[in-house]
Amino acid sequence: MKADNRGNRPPAWRGWALMLAAAGATFLLGLLAASIVQRREEARQRLPLRPIGQWETDSAKWGENYPREYEAYKRMEDSTTRTKYGGALPRDYLAETPANVVLFAGYGFAKEYRQARGHVHAIEDVTKTKRVNDKTPATCWTCKSPDVPRLMDSMGIDKFYAANFDSLKPEITHPIGCLDCHEPNTMRLRVTRPALREAFARQGKDIDQATHQEMRTLVCAQCHVEYYFKGKGDYLTFPWDKGTTPEDMEQYYDAADFADWTHAISKTRMVKMQHPDYEIYRTGIHAFRNIACADCHMPYRTEGGVKYTDHHIQSPLLNVAGSCVACHRWSEEEIRQRVEDGQDKVRAGREMAERTIALAHFDVAAAMQAGATDEELAAVRKLLRGAQLRWDYVAANNGMGFHSPQECLRILASAIDLAGQCRVECARILARHGMTEQVEYPDFSTKEKAQSLIERFIDGRPPKLIEP
Ligand code: HEC
Ligand code: HEC
Ligand code: HEC
Ligand code: HEC
Repeated sequence: MKADNRGNRPPAWRGWALMLAAAGATFLLGLLAASIVQRREEARQRLPLRPIGQWETDSAKWGENYPREYEAYKRMEDSTTRTKYGGALPRDYLAETPANVVLFAGYGFAKEYRQARGHVHAIEDVTKTKRVNDKTPATCWTCKSPDVPRLMDSMGIDKFYAANFDSLKPEITHPIGCLDCHEPNTMRLRVTRPALREAFARQGKDIDQATHQEMRTLVCAQCHVEYYFKGKGDYLTFPWDKGTTPEDMEQYYDAADFADWTHAISKTRMVKMQHPDYEIYRTGIHAFRNIACADCHMPYRTEGGVKYTDHHIQSPLLNVAGSCVACHRWSEEEIRQRVEDGQDKVRAGREMAERTIALAHFDVAAAMQAGATDEELAAVRKLLRGAQLRWDYVAANNGMGFHSPQECLRILASAIDLAGQCRVECARILARHGMTEQVEYPDFSTKEKAQSLIERFIDGRPPKLIEP
């Protein structure tokens, strides 16, 4: 029997070949599995294969270890994206809202005011803006570059702020990058900017006790906050000692007798609010639910079995699927619509405040033309300062109110209330000086008209606002 079957048996070499092939496949599979495990492990440990210097400010060098994060980071170069109220295109706010020119009369923001774009443009944009001149302090560099913590370490923090902007130009060449948020080699999130650390300390809080989830917000709060330059040394300071609402900040600035500039039309001592994104966010539903800036602006992505953080920081409306759908089971279209509906409402409230406050500046100027003294005008100027500070807290904040719609609308209501009180009081002052006719408000309906109008106030040849 055996002999009979012999002729049908496969030749011995085929058995060996099969066995070898199976062994080879197993070996390759093993290699693949090992590499996946290793990559997972690397992703988990996040340790770089090539060591990163303590002051490595060139993000491309970090990128050699972390190509996924670096490639996404580089995509922030795109300045063409657009959503209804956001995106990376450098929108001209003054052309969109000419009332802004009136509100910032006598200050740099009336010359140029554009929408922020991606982090990789930070150096280019700060050196090109018309708001910077030869007297600008180095403090303006603080939120633009990882060269800043490096220089603060070598120069000392005080000396850095007190230096001149131009004098540090050759030293500051890298836009916001890896070193700003990460500790080299451990890749832990960290706070590199002293102003945030100091603001926490003054409130009796130790920022080093922050949880990992809090750090996913605090790395952003190093820059996306309201701040001012304190004293002669232009020391960067967050005005949070009395709290972070506009009312708290107004008290803080009043107590310090602080002003950014004197308004060219109403001669009111004004405060410019800078993007209080973190402060507003904290009053919203997502902060209440412990959702961090990074959850929406740096969602996870998966590629080749590796989960990583999307370092293309941008408007989450450009990636609703990645940023929102993980938690919200509505369709992308519904989510976008819901966001825009809320933003439209904040925008409408903002426009009312803008117009009323602009008119209030002219009312105060009219009272001056009627002969009202600074003492007579002290109370109305205080109302006007408070109104504009509130409006600006909302207007300068990014996201058109999305981060906390209710709080934004409350603040705008309060701004309109104060501006209204100011205007009623101005009418009384005008009446006391024998002026009962309507003030003649000049035309500021376009950026060009508004800019040439404020030039006349700056040059001391204002239009006549009242008929004697
Ligand atoms: C729940 C998700 C969410 C969280 C959390 C969140 N944001 Fe936003 N953010 C948005 C949305 C939505 C917009 C509106 C984008 C638009 O209009 O295109 C936005 C807008 C912005 C913008 C303007 C972007 C643009 O293109 O106009 C900035 C800057 C910003 N957020 C910073 C922050 C910071 C800083 C934090 C944390 C303190 C934060 N965000 C927390 C969702 C979020
Ligand atoms: C504005 C702050 C910020 C900057 C700038 C930044 N990162 Fe991150 N990075 C984060 C946050 C937030 C996380 C999420 C960390 C977490 O939750 O553990 C993260 C996570 C990481 C991780 C861990 C793996 C992952 O993807 O989750 C790596 C690696 C990393 N970043 C590399 C880089 C590199 C390389 C650069 C520069 C090209 C960079 N980061 C710039 C904030 C930043
Ligand atoms: C070192 C300071 C700094 C840190 C840290 C920082 N930002 Fe920014 N951010 C800026 C500056 C400055 C700009 C404006 C850059 C420009 O227009 O040239 C900006 C712009 C943005 C924009 C607008 C981009 C667009 O496409 O609309 C968003 C969104 C944003 N940042 C979110 C964040 C988030 C979220 C974090 C934390 C994970 C963060 N930023 C951390 C300074 C910082
Ligand atoms: C990590 C989870 C998480 C992410 C990510 C997230 N949300 Fe939310 N969102 C919540 C929670 C929790 C609430 C509170 C309401 C609730 O409990 O259902 C909420 C509430 C909201 C509300 C209702 C607010 C109100 O008071 O009317 C809107 C609108 C919203 N989110 C939009 C967004 C958008 C847009 C994004 C993406 C940019 C986003 N969310 C990302 C968890 C999240």
